[in-house]
Amino acid sequence: MNVLTFPSNEELNEAAAGLLTATLHQKANAVLGLATGSTPIGVYEKLVEFYKKGRVSFQSATTFNLDEYVGLPRDHAESYYTFMNTRLFQHIDLPEANAHIPDGHADDPQQECERYDRMIGQAGGIDVQILGIGHNGHIGFNEPGDTLQSATHLIELHEETRKANARFFASIDEVPTKAITVGLGTIMKSKSILLLARGSDKAEIMRRALRGPIDPQCPASFLQLHPQLIVMTDSEAGRLL
Ligand code: PGA
Repeated sequence: MNVLTFPSNEELNEAAAGLLTATLHQKANAVLGLATGSTPIGVYEKLVEFYKKGRVSFQSATTFNLDEYVGLPRDHAESYYTFMNTRLFQHIDLPEANAHIPDGHADDPQQECERYDRMIGQAGGIDVQILGIGHNGHIGFNEPGDTLQSATHLIELHEETRKANARFFASIDEVPTKAITVGLGTIMKSKSILLLARGSDKAEIMRRALRGPIDPQCPASFLQLHPQLIVMTDSEAGRLL
């Protein structure tokens, strides 16, 4: 594991976007695993900036997002489809057909999960997977539990996660109760993983995830087993590492 701690958000964003840019320079048709949430927003802003300056192109890249709420219309302001379009996709040259997000409106969610894993496999797997981390140690929407699922699956969101995400909705009642998430096995099969964390409120869960025991009650702790894990934090989130 390679832990990099940055004194400012700007430097963290620059380094994370730089790593993704370098990946695309080495392999123009790289497959990127993308995350939503507040943590990667600054990285996406940097990527847009790099793209506008002609430093990177996404023309041959493919992307797979980690998760999507079940039951929100695709064009709902808080769907991850809308998040990715407004934060990244509509500003860069990634072909629309190459950008994948689980379909939270599929008639048969189980079939959708299987289709999604199949597509990732057919694309050759993820080259670089970006991850944020939840306060309860979730990655994607792989919530803590007695066991963790390997493949993409339908999950019941934990109350803590719904509360954390309620800040984006008018009230907690509007936060969906279910989501489709890429599973831990699919995440772990990525060739490399870039875990991002910011802020003092993430310091303790980062310590548990990266320095504590490997435990399904903290799904991110399994990342310790990944041979190519890069961790980028600000000085607050990395304080206990
Ligand atoms: P955040 O969410 O980036 O908004 O903190 C991370 C997560 O819940 O995975």
